[in-house]
Amino acid sequence: MGPVNDSRPPAALPLRADLAGLHPYGAPRIDVPVVLNVNENPYAPSPEVVRDIADAVARAAAGANRYPDRDALALRGELADYLRAETGVELTADQVWAGNGSNEVLLHVLQAYGGVGRTMLTAAPSYSMYPEYARDTQTAFVTVPRTEDFRVDVDATLAAMAEHRPSVLVLASPNNPTGTALTADELTRLLAVAATSGPAGPDEESLATVVVVDEAYAEFRRAGTPAAHELLADHPHLVVARTMSKAFGMAGLRLGYLAASKEIVDHLQVVRLPYHLSDITQAAALAALGHRESLMSQVAELRAERDALAEHLTSVGLTVAESDANFVFFGRFEDRHAVWESLVGRGVLIRETGPDGWLRVSVGTPEENARFRAALNEVLS
Ligand SMILES: Cc1ncc(COP(=O)(O)O)c(C=O)c1O
Repeated sequence: MGPVNDSRPPAALPLRADLAGLHPYGAPRIDVPVVLNVNENPYAPSPEVVRDIADAVARAAAGANRYPDRDALALRGELADYLRAETGVELTADQVWAGNGSNEVLLHVLQAYGGVGRTMLTAAPSYSMYPEYARDTQTAFVTVPRTEDFRVDVDATLAAMAEHRPSVLVLASPNNPTGTALTADELTRLLAVAATSGPAGPDEESLATVVVVDEAYAEFRRAGTPAAHELLADHPHLVVARTMSKAFGMAGLRLGYLAASKEIVDHLQVVRLPYHLSDITQAAALAALGHRESLMSQVAELRAERDALAEHLTSVGLTVAESDANFVFFGRFEDRHAVWESLVGRGVLIRETGPDGWLRVSVGTPEENARFRAALNEVLS
């Protein structure tokens, strides 16, 4: 039989108008020797950790005819245990929620508390995915500019909360791409107002704004920078998100999680897809958590390298934002794209992101950092 002679025009697909012409989010992937553009941990897991993960995955695969534990309770319990060790705050499995990267748990927050007629507020510049969570859940997206030194402008944020009555306020701390963290005092002020700054409820009463502190980089914080978990007990509208992608060195695993009140975790479970975390993911994450000391053994070195990198950039006359993360944000360049391109030409990939004139470099191994410094010195001279 020959081809069907169909003269109908091709079907026009019903893509949502607000998605027309958009491209998927993602940093450029370029094959160069020194990759410092997506804030990964440069250290691969040891052969011992790899073996344990592989054994755990093999055991999970043997039962792969069955659906996984929908509630991922063993994993959530281990994550609570890790948070207890890292922050000193007692948490139980039912105060922890996990998903495929912190991107997924943050999207769950917007699915549960955002939506048509609701507003998400954040402090710009910040993580490029935030507007996408809002867009995908049809939530209005409002930003408050950060101060000159990239701190959250608390007064301006409080004013925006009064004006927009957001159901969700998301603040990355340490912030991406700037590295700047919130102080306990700043967060406490915001949380006090957020208890009643949300949209109107069914009886016209003021609901809370859910305050999300995105601590993807928190393990790299400097001494004296607090973890927001300390405020969970007194603030049932607080969510603190973390990830295994950065300090744990497990970006390829896709495991993010958050801590919050049990009530919030119950709400998030309503919007998750059933079996969203595969048995393979749960098994690999549990095995990796069993090796957390080895996986995180480089964090202190990465912190020291970050501080040395910031010092070097300052010493060559650049402006550097204060960083509590595993990257450094620096500028200002007349033509940052030209600098970025010249670095790529020398085999070093960093990130062109955030306000014009600034660039972000992730902290790599000492050798990678030295190559970045040498390449930048050449470009600047
Ligand atoms: C501030 C911030 N939050 C969340 C994420 C998402 O991380 P993941 O989905 O890998 O856990 C990132 C990743 O770069 C980030 O920078």
